[in-house]
Amino acid sequence: MSGKYSARNSQGRHVVAKDDPLAISLLKQEHHVFRSLFDEAEEADTQRLTEIARELCMRLSVHMAIEEEILYPALKPILGDDEVNEGIVEHQSGKRIIAELEQLDGTEELFAAKVHVLGEETVHHIDEEDEDMFEDAKSAHSDGKIDLDALGETLRARQAELYDQISSTGETGKTCEAQPDEVERA
Ligand SMILES: [Fe+2]
Ligand SMILES: [Fe+2]
Repeated sequence: MSGKYSARNSQGRHVVAKDDPLAISLLKQEHHVFRSLFDEAEEADTQRLTEIARELCMRLSVHMAIEEEILYPALKPILGDDEVNEGIVEHQSGKRIIAELEQLDGTEELFAAKVHVLGEETVHHIDEEDEDMFEDAKSAHSDGKIDLDALGETLRARQAELYDQISSTGETGKTCEAQPDEVERA
């Protein structure tokens, strides 16, 4: 399916390149899934929209958690605070809408609008990660300042752990609540 967001998956820096280090290829592949699901949400009936929203909330929560716990703190000393803090604030905005959606059952008047706005904001955010942050990170990787393959293994392990946690408890826990100063300390 190729909609207005997922058309980007095969364009420019959003493509998973052969030489992308593991951390970048793993996160870009998830960005592809988000664009496709948000496209599908635009066309979905109420029942399907509710399912898609649940899946997006879960996947986005884990994705933001591993970026905030592992990727962002590793990039801060290299890329500087501004680029990373902007990402954290965009995550916070997404988390607010996710928290609202999690209180709803899909029948409410504003449900579809909330999913739509979450899509607009999320796609803006992941596009910027692909285009700017990840390119800067890849340059640092090429210069030997960071090992994004090793970091990718850490991201993958933490992702698996969080998915296990969700399947056993149904909760993502406090991992989604990082604040800019917590990332600073990490
Ligand atoms: Fe992000
Ligand atoms: Fe991301």
